[in-house]
Formats: sequence, C-alpha cells, structure tokens
Amino acid sequence: MDTVSSPETVNLELDDIQGGVLHPRPSPYVGIYLLLRIDDRRAGRELLRRLHPVVDAGRPSSDPARGAWVTVALTYPGLKALGVAQESLDSFAPEFRQGMAARAAELGDVGDSSPANWEKPLGTPEVHVALAALSPDAARLAVVVERARRAHQDLPGVEVIWRQDCYQLPTGRTSFGFKDGIGQPAVEGSGIPGSNSRERPIKAGEFLLGYPDETGSLPPMPTPEVLGRNGTYIVFRKLHTRVAAYRRYLRERASSREEEARLGAKMVGRWQSGAPLALSPDHDDPQLGADPARNNDFDYHDDLRGFKCPAGAHARRANPRDALDQEGSVNVRLHRMIRRGTSYGPMLPEGVLEDDGVDRGIIFVFVGAHLKRQFEFVKTQWINDGIFIGAPTEKDPLAGPNDSSGMFTIPQQPIRRRLQGLPPFIVTRGGEYCYVPGLRALRWLAELKT
Ligand code: HEM
Repeated sequence: MDTVSSPETVNLELDDIQGGVLHPRPSPYVGIYLLLRIDDRRAGRELLRRLHPVVDAGRPSSDPARGAWVTVALTYPGLKALGVAQESLDSFAPEFRQGMAARAAELGDVGDSSPANWEKPLGTPEVHVALAALSPDAARLAVVVERARRAHQDLPGVEVIWRQDCYQLPTGRTSFGFKDGIGQPAVEGSGIPGSNSRERPIKAGEFLLGYPDETGSLPPMPTPEVLGRNGTYIVFRKLHTRVAAYRRYLRERASSREEEARLGAKMVGRWQSGAPLALSPDHDDPQLGADPARNNDFDYHDDLRGFKCPAGAHARRANPRDALDQEGSVNVRLHRMIRRGTSYGPMLPEGVLEDDGVDRGIIFVFVGAHLKRQFEFVKTQWINDGIFIGAPTEKDPLAGPNDSSGMFTIPQQPIRRRLQGLPPFIVTRGGEYCYVPGLRALRWLAELKT
C-alpha cells in the first residue's frame, strides 16, 4: 500500500502541454465541443496555425479569458487529412489508428450502442479535428469560442460538422443525480495536489508522452519527436443516460426513498453528494461529499468483502485502489486515468419516472498516454466484466453493457442482496479516439509542406 507522497522528480514542459490536459474542470462550467472536417490539407494547416495562439499552455496566464480554455485534438483520419507522412502515421498507437468505431465490439458498444446507431458523424472518417472549449461561465466561454470561430470561419476546405453544448446542471451533479469528477489521480510534476493521501502521484508518463511511466520506461511515442513529445491521447464518448429507467429500477426494488438512495449509492460507490461509501457506509454525508480534502481520501483494504462499498460498484471497479493488492497480480497504477467529463442536456425533473424523450447524459472524456492499458482495459476488464472480482456474470451496474439479464451483488449481513434484471442505463451515442498534440507539435503540423 502506498501511504506517503514521494517528492516530485520530473520537470514537465508545461509551456508545451495543452492547458486542458492537466487543468481540473471548473465548477460550475459551461462548454462547447466542435468537430470539424478538413477537405483541403492547406486549409487544415491554416486552421491549426490560427488555433495555435488560441490554445493555452499548462501554465496559468494573465489573459482576461483566464479560467476558460480551448483544447485541440486530432483523429487519425485528421492527421491523414493534414498530410502527415505515412511513416509518422504508423507510429501512433494501433487503437488510435483503428478508431473507436472499429473497437466497438471489444468495448461493448453493441445493440443500441453500436456504431450503426451512432449520431452522425461520430465514428465516421469525416471527423478530423475536435475542439473543446470549457469555461467557468458563459461570458468567458463566449470570448474563447469567438477566438476559435475566427480560426475556422471563412476558411473554405474546413467544415464544422458537429456541435455539442454542455453545462453543469444546477444541482452540480450529473443526470443520475451524483456528483462526479471527484476521483482523479495526482500527476507527478503537474503541481496539482492529489486528493488521496494513500496514492502516490502517478508518473507523468502515464498521461503525457515523452516522460517515464509507471513501468520506468518511456511510453511509445509518435514520431518525429516534435510531434509526439508532450502529446497525449483522449477518448471522447457521448453517453446518453436513461435516467427514467434508472429511477424506475430503483423504485421497484426499494421500499422507501432512503432505500432507493442506498441502492443507488451501492451501485456507484458514493452517495449522491459525492461522499464515498468507504468513509460513510450507512448514510449520505453532504459535508464530506463537498470537502475536497476528504472526499477522495480513502482506500478499500479494510473492506475487502465489500460490506461498505460493493466490489461491483462503479467507482470501485473503475479504480479498485488497494483492493486488488492482495492478489498481487494487478498494479492498479497502470490503469489510472484523468477524466474531464461534462454533462449535457437538461435534468429530468425530480420525481419523474417516465422518459420525456430528451437527450441527456455525459460527455465522457479520458486523458492518458495508453489507450489500451488504461481506457480499454478498465472498460473491458473492470466495467464490462466481473472476473476480476470473482463475479464473472456481473457487469458494472451503472456503466456496464447490461441487457436486462444482469445482476448486482450487495454484500451485507446476514445475507447478501442481489439485484436482478439490470437493464442498460447508458447508451453510447458515439465517440472518437483523438490525439492532443503539444503546442510545438501543433505548430509543426501547421507548417507541414508536402
Ligand atoms: C454515463 C456513464 C458514467 C457515469 C454516469 C459515471 C459516473 C461516475 C460517478 C458518479 C463516479 C463517482 C464520482 C467520482 O469519483 O467522480 C464515477 C467515478 C469514476 N468513473 Fe465513471 N461514470 C460513467 C462512465 C465511466 C466510464 C466509461 C469509465 C471508464 C472507462 C469511468 C471511469 C471512472 C473512474 C476512473 C472513476 C473514479 C473512481 C475513483 O477514483 O474512485 N466512468 N463515475
């Protein structure tokens, strides 16, 4: 078990890292995601040239739009459309080259979630550039969005093909009613303090290319070095949440509102306020949930049987902390991720149990240097499967690809409780694997010649 913080031993080139990679999301927040298609490589390069000054580096700035930032990311077809040489294209991670749609069966994106049913143009080779603008308020968002708009307007050969607005709900929570974005790793060298004193900061190379990772080696980096260094991968997924189905499911299995809240908390691993079951197993504790110094400061070694937080709960699956140390086989530090997700769509009003047909959910955003052993591993082995917790027939009760035959076990005494017939509460509407270049790399791409 890691109980102490180690001194930071790496100097990150923060001036070259896009700000959105390491900046925690503001709260509240508003934001916009744009996807663009490049029909002409020269126009695509001009777009990047114009975007370059719009993108903040990792250091704080004195800009009036401070607190708001734009992140620029590229898909594999996007790099191709810019005219990146084949040798360089071949040096990117294989999963990135394939793209998320091609990984769908592996990721559990089947049935309603399969790429055939995705919102167009998500998952098609038309998606080349992804822009994300995030801000604490609408006024500062307008400033950075206007800058981004100036970069692509009047640029024949570059087309905006998709837009998604996002904003924090007035409750400060996501559509299922839970506070999120709490559990994040500390990144060595970022200067951002960790929130879990039991987890040593994770090596920078787990999240940024060009630095040693937890294995002690440099993660595979795209070539040439100027393109790879200080870059990272992101996973972007639009996840529709079936809130009415979720509420009905709990209502049908609970005899009181208190029990509904308890079952919901058992599924997530935290109460709606964000208070972790590991620290407050029997009731919600809004003060704990709101306290960043305490709400992530825990592990699971004193709860290996899951009486407080079930091993199958979403947050415990996604980050089992020290619960897997006992088997000695899994190094959880190799499967950590930065999350930058946001909410989209309005709330389903409190108490409503019928679907109103409105699209609402989460734009899930993963940041990490290893698509396969971070995002894909967690999604396929820990969320979509239960072998690792000795429950091979169980999937994540909230985020797993359940099909109404699913089950969720809540360990309790004298006898455990089992929730049966879990339907899917989440439908994938689409997504992309993207590469976030460093700022020098962005300029290098803008100056490509052939
Ligand atoms: C719509 C789908 C999802 C919803 C509603 C959701 C919701 C939540 C909530 C409420 C928490 C607890 C609060 C927090 O620590 O932030 C959480 C934690 C987390 N989720 Fe999700 N999640 C979703 C999908 C995913 C997916 C697809 C992954 C990864 C592949 C994931 C990875 C994580 C991780 C790593 C944590 C932090 C765990 C920790 O450090 O304790 N989530 N999520």
